[in-house]
Amino acid sequence: MTRVAIVTGGTRGIGAAISEALLEAGYKVAATYHGNEKAAQEFTKKTGIAAYKFDVGDYDTCAAGVAKITADIGAVDVLVNNAGITRDAFLHKMTPQQWREVMHCDLDSVFNMSRLVIEGMRERCFGRIINISSINGQEGQVGQTNYSAAKAGILGFTRALAKECATKGVTVNAIAPGYIDTEMVRAVSPEVLQKIIDKIPLKRLGKPEEVAAMVVFLASNQAAFATGATFTVNGAQYISS
Ligand code: CAA
Repeated sequence: MTRVAIVTGGTRGIGAAISEALLEAGYKVAATYHGNEKAAQEFTKKTGIAAYKFDVGDYDTCAAGVAKITADIGAVDVLVNNAGITRDAFLHKMTPQQWREVMHCDLDSVFNMSRLVIEGMRERCFGRIINISSINGQEGQVGQTNYSAAKAGILGFTRALAKECATKGVTVNAIAPGYIDTEMVRAVSPEVLQKIIDKIPLKRLGKPEEVAAMVVFLASNQAAFATGATFTVNGAQYISS
């Protein structure tokens, strides 16, 4: 039977590459988006993947969104919590709003979406939850106390939920991409971006497809024993044991 996957923030950047890779691998895919209507329309036109507009940081809109997706293409087997934003500023300049917006989109979303699919996955004894964290949640990044905290929070969430679901056929993993060639990374000033690339042993940015390939593996039956883990895709920029 064809499996159903949701990719949050799935119409742009790393998320779009993940949506396309899962489609290519034979999944029925729903991509969510929030702000960029034009990009979502172009993505659907190009790929044929339906895009669903809702705020993943808000539990009630997620509940309605997941219900609609389930009615349209079936019960969710694979959830990729990818949606994320940055609001970079040194802490001594950061506003409460910059903190809250990042927590809302990058961390609350992981609870909301996972909570809404976890009961069904447990009942059906199969599920894959793949959370997109970041190198900056592992090692910290200047200007990103908000984003680093949210992305580190995702790692704790992943480990705890993996243990809760271990006997239920549901795996929960995190991927921590390094600097990937997306609009989000290109928004950093050219001078700072050059400093970052200089620190990457591979001397280049990663490609969204290089993260998507890891998602496809973790979603597969072959990855059944991999759970509670953090997989890095970072060009050896940050190596932890
Ligand atoms: N790496 C190294 N140095 C950095 C840096 C970085 N990522 N970010 C800032 N700096 C340095 C600047 O080069 C500058 O150094 P000098 O004083 O030697 O010139 C110093 O920090 C102060 O920077 P600014 O002059 O830019 O100060 P600001 O207050 O105007 O802005 C900032 C500070 C908000 C941190 C801004 O520099 C910035 O946005 N930096 C980028 C932060 C970053 O790396 N964000 C990652 C975005 S991509 C992403 O998040 C995806 C992912 O998961 C990897």
